Amino acid sequence: MKFSEYKNLIQESLKKYFDEYSKNSSYSSEIWESMAYTTLLDGKRLRAIMCLEVARLFGASIKDAVPLACSLEIMHAYSLIHDDLPSMDNDDIRRGKPSNHKVFGEAIATLAGDALISFGAQLIIDKMPKYIKPETTLDIVRDYLICAGAKGIVAGQCADIKAENKKIDIENLKYIHKYKTAALFKCAILIGAKFANVNKEILRKLEQFADNFGILFQIYDDIIDCTLTSYELGKTAGKDKLENKMTYVSVYGLNEAKNIFYSLIEKNHVILSELNISSNIFNQIDNMLIEKVKR
Ligand code: IPE
Ligand code: IPE
Ligand code: MG
Ligand code: MG
Ligand code: MG
Repeated sequence: MKFSEYKNLIQESLKKYFDEYSKNSSYSSEIWESMAYTTLLDGKRLRAIMCLEVARLFGASIKDAVPLACSLEIMHAYSLIHDDLPSMDNDDIRRGKPSNHKVFGEAIATLAGDALISFGAQLIIDKMPKYIKPETTLDIVRDYLICAGAKGIVAGQCADIKAENKKIDIENLKYIHKYKTAALFKCAILIGAKFANVNKEILRKLEQFADNFGILFQIYDDIIDCTLTSYELGKTAGKDKLENKMTYVSVYGLNEAKNIFYSLIEKNHVILSELNISSNIFNQIDNMLIEKVKR
């Protein structure tokens, strides 16, 4: 499947699930509107696509893995809504449109983020095909829930906020990137692999790949925050400097941050070749990021 086909499949499926689950919620229709608003705006869908691609590479049905992939985009949307809140990064633009709290207010935006976490988990459970063993489903839902919470994204976001206006050491910076961003990529790749029933040895290798990808992705995000325009980003440019964030750019400078980004891309090529994996989709994703980092 091509990148654009994967993307359409995710978009259409997300729409379908929101329609299905928001029915008959007359007293709470606004919360569903708010949840759907950020989730359905145009994102790159990288986490969902990587989950589907890993599932495909190891022999699983793409169609059957779609709810899993959608649950990752739903969790991602929660993290974006909360990240933009005035008490967090205070960003008024997301995906080229007003942030969730700008449209629905802070209270509803906060609640929408909360509700998205449980919606994603419910979707996995409700839509898991019957042929998947119950213990596999349990393992996948456990990964999803750990990723969303205080041993995942919340841990990273908490450390990120605490590090504002401070000089922190490099280990702390790595921790922030590992949890606020890499945790979700790791979850995406591992649950795709578990859905395809891969063995422990392969899981370990994929975990290294996902950790590296998550870190290089956040380095990419830190780089483009200071090199692209708000229009190109679909979010406010130069936000990290404005909020005095610790990033790879603020610690290493732009050039060295780019070198670290490229070295992680290289490391991941080695891991994929050790796994005997050749994927146009993974290559395309790398190239998308490299194109922007080059500018
Ligand atoms: C933004 O992620 C949040 C980070 C972890 C840096 P994306 O750049 O994948 O955002 P969308 O989904 O394409 O909007
Ligand atoms: C975001 O990091 C990580 C999340 C969990 C959303 P950023 O704060 O750099 O993400 P953007 O730049 O606002 O998308
Ligand atoms: Mg942030
Ligand atoms: Mg932010
Ligand atoms: Mg950023």
